[in-house]
Formats: sequence, structure tokens, C-alpha cells
Amino acid sequence: MTVAARIATSAALLILLLVAALSYHLAVVHRLAASNRAISTHQVRLVVLTLEQLAMIDHIEESARKLAATGDPGYGEQLTNRIMTFESALRRLSSFDVADSERAAIHRLGGEWRRFLAQLPAPGDLLSGTAPAERARRLGGGLARLGDLRSAAQELVAAANQELSHQGERAESARRGSERWVLAVFAVALLSGSVAVALAIRAIQRPLRRLIEATGRIAEQSYDFELETHGEDEFARLSAAFNEMAKRLAELDEVKRNLLSHVSHELQTPLASIQESHLLLLDGLAGPLTAEQRHLLELDVASCERLGRLISNLLERSRLDAGSLSYEIAEHDLGAVARATVNEVAARAEEAGLLLVSDLPREPLLVPCDRERIGQVLRNLLDNAVKYSSAGGRIEVSLRMAPAPPAGMPEHSRAAIENNGAFVLLEVADEGPGVPAAERERIFERFYRAQRGSGGPSGVGLGLAICRDLVEAHGGAIWASANSPVGSRFQVLLPAGVPERRPAPAGALAAGEQP
Ligand SMILES: Nc1ncnc2c1ncn2[C@@H]1O[C@H](COP(=O)(O)OP(=O)(O)OP(=O)(O)O)[C@@H](O)[C@H]1O
Ligand SMILES: [Mg+2]
Repeated sequence: MTVAARIATSAALLILLLVAALSYHLAVVHRLAASNRAISTHQVRLVVLTLEQLAMIDHIEESARKLAATGDPGYGEQLTNRIMTFESALRRLSSFDVADSERAAIHRLGGEWRRFLAQLPAPGDLLSGTAPAERARRLGGGLARLGDLRSAAQELVAAANQELSHQGERAESARRGSERWVLAVFAVALLSGSVAVALAIRAIQRPLRRLIEATGRIAEQSYDFELETHGEDEFARLSAAFNEMAKRLAELDEVKRNLLSHVSHELQTPLASIQESHLLLLDGLAGPLTAEQRHLLELDVASCERLGRLISNLLERSRLDAGSLSYEIAEHDLGAVARATVNEVAARAEEAGLLLVSDLPREPLLVPCDRERIGQVLRNLLDNAVKYSSAGGRIEVSLRMAPAPPAGMPEHSRAAIENNGAFVLLEVADEGPGVPAAERERIFERFYRAQRGSGGPSGVGLGLAICRDLVEAHGGAIWASANSPVGSRFQVLLPAGVPERRPAPAGALAAGEQP
């Protein structure tokens, strides 16, 4: 199932359940409205009409009594009209669509009415031709039925009231039932919707996390992974494309490394011979030189040296990348290594108008290391110090024992060291432009050069990356900080104990050998 289909299914399920809950709720509201309508039309009209009938019974009694007392035909006519009104209202009551209890009460009222009419003398028998006493006697039987008629009407009012409250109760219980149902349906919708959404998110999250990890590994130029490509969804297709891209990148990287290593290697020999020829010319082997010719040749020799250092950095990088670099670890006096390297760079520093001072211990400082590689690290740092400082600046090299990593050491460098007791700390500080804090870590990445406008000293950005690889191979750490008051300070911390000797990969070359 594709990711889009999974999301669509969970959304559809949620929508379906919500529509069901809404429809049910609408049906209940409709039922409640109908029941309210019934209450307001039938029941209320029934109660009002019955109350009017009760009042009419009083009016009929009043007219009958006045007729019997006076024998006035006006009252006879009034009585006849009121009887007709009562009868027409009774017919209307019988036509109502009412509950069984109310129907029975209406029926009883009709019966009592008929019995009352049967006992009531015709209005003509109560007119003035008859003696008042006789009229009162004739009326007596009818008036005696009025009590039952009244109680039948009151019974109907009571039945109507009861039905009214029953209907109210029924509406209330329907409302409560609907509320429960709607809440239950909403809860089920919410729960199943959440589960469906959580499943959809999980289905997206897992492959996404793997893709993020793989992207991070590609950023670190490590291609030895293969993403899972099971299934038919978009992620499976993306993972397959990603694997293909990683494979291509690995091939390209390999091609680039080989090319770099071959070109650098091929450049080394002609460069050495050019340098040799220039030195012979400078020695006067081909005849005396004018001052100008000598100056030009000296510039060429300096350029050749720079090019030589660049080529050896490129070769070193290729060997480190290929893992074909082995280390000759032995106890070496680090003070002597530093002294030799400082001497190598001294002439160049002087030419650049820089003051190179060193603070190295007199007594031997024996540290297990590959002296060539550690010499190379210090050479790269000093090269940078000379290259990036301006004339008149001071470069200071120092070496000392350190019982523990220094306080200002960055956390990630602390994690890189293999602590086995004491350390030695090698430092190169200069008064150059310094490295902005945001870039102090990035300058150790390959081919990264700090941004400082156009121009400036040339380089490819490999020196420090090589330094970090070499130092970490010794179980140490290297980092940059600010020098006070200006410039930068590069610090190299090496374990002073005997580190484990790193096994060289198969076919590895000894340090200094050519590939
Ligand atoms: N002493 C220093 N003072 C100021 N900036 C420095 C110093 N050392 C290094 N940097 C900055 O760090 C960057 C990386 O240095 P790195 O030695 O790796 O490369 P590079 O000197 O540019 O080239 P190369 O590969 O020839 O050494 C440099 O481009 C520079 O911007
Ligand atoms: Mg450099």
C-alpha cells in the first residue's frame, strides 16, 4: 500500500465515523423537535379546551339556575347556546389524536354529558308558565349530574397533564440516550482515527529516519550502507533510488581519489627534477648568474617547495582515504621532533618577516608515536602560521606534559581522546587574522577554507584535515582556539602512555613509502 493510500484510508475512516455520528445526532434532534411540536400543538390545545369545558359547565349551571328562578325565555336561549357550545367542543376533543388514557377520559366525559342531558328538562319546561317550585324540582335531577360531569372534565385535565409530563420525560430520556450514543461514536471515531493516524505516521517515520541517517552518512562521505527496499510504497522507491545514488557517489569518489593520487604521484617526479635543476643553476653549475636571475630562480624554488607540499598533502589524503597508511609507532623524543620541524620552517618564517620562538623541554620527552607523522602535523601547523600571519608577527611553538586535558578543550575533542593517564600538549600560536569561532571546527574538514574575501594565501584546505586524521590515529585530539590578544592557537593533545598499535589494513604501506 502506498503512503498516500495509507493516509487517505485513515482519513476516510475518520470521516466515515464522524459522518455516522453526525447523522445519528441529526436524527435524534429531529425526533426531539417532532416530540416538542406534538407537545405544543396537541397536548396544550387539549388542556386548554378541557379547562374551557370546565368553565362552560359552570356557565350552563348558572343559566339553568337563572332560568329556573325567573322563567325568563332569554335565559332559556342562553342555556341552549351554552349546551351547543359544550357539544361542539366535545366533538373537537374526540377528534384529537391523543394517548389511550386521554381517550378514555374523553369517552367518560362524553358519557357523563349524555347522562346530564338526559336528566336536564327541556328549556321550555322551565319557562314562566310553571310555578317556581316546580321549575326547581324539574331542574334538580340535571343539576345532580353536574358533579360527575365536572369530575369527568377534571379527570381529562389530569390525564392530559400526565401525558404532557410523560412526553417531557420521553424527550429528556431520548436526549440523554442520544448524548450517550453521540459521545460513544465520537470516542470510537477519535480512538480509531488516532490509531489510524499513528500507524500512518509510524509508517512514514521509520523509513524517513533511515533516509535521514543515510543522508548524514553521505555527508560524511561514507557509502557502505544499503537501505531496505521492501514493499511497493514511495519510500521503497525512494530508498532504491537513494541506494543507486550512493553507489554512483561511491564510484565517483573512488574515481576522484584514484585520479588525485595518480596525478599527484605523476607530478612528484618532474617537480623534483625541476627543483633539482634550479638548485644546480643556483649553485652556478651552468655559469655565473646575475642578481636578477638568482632572485627569479629563488622564487621558482620557493614555488616548487610550495607545490611539493601541496602534492604530498594530496597524496597523504589519498592514502588516508584508502586506509593504506600504516604507523611506525615507537618511543620518540617529541622535543627533538618539534625542534627538527621548527628548524625546517625557520628560514621561511624569517623570509616572511616573522619571529619564530619555541618553548621546548631540554630533557627528552618520550612519547609513543610515529615521528614522521607527528612531524608532519607540526609542519602543517607551522606552514599555516607562516602562511596566514603578516610580517612582524610572532609564532610560538610550545611543548609540555599535561596531567589532564586542558580546561578550554572542546567537548567533541575530549570525546575523541583515548585517555590512558598523562598527556603531552603541543601548541602553535600566532598573531595572524585568527579563525572565527563559528569556523573553528569546520576548518578541520577536507577542502574547507575559512571565508575571508578574495585573495589571501593559496591552499586547498587539506592540511588540517590530514592533521586531525593523524592525531586521532595516535589516540589524541587537535583543535583550534583564539590566541590572546590576537591570532589563533592550535593545540595537539597526545596520550603520553603507550597506545595500542593500530593494525594496518592489508597491503598497507609503511609510512614514507610510495603507493
Ligand atoms: N594559523 C591560521 N590562522 C588563520 N587561519 C588559519 C590558520 N590555519 C588554518 N587557517 C584557516 O583554516 C583553513 C584550513 O587550513 P588548512 O591548512 O586545512 O588548508 P589550507 O592552508 O587552506 O590549504 P593546504 O591544504 O595547503 O594546507 C585555511 O584555509 C585558513 O582559512
Ligand atoms: Mg594549510
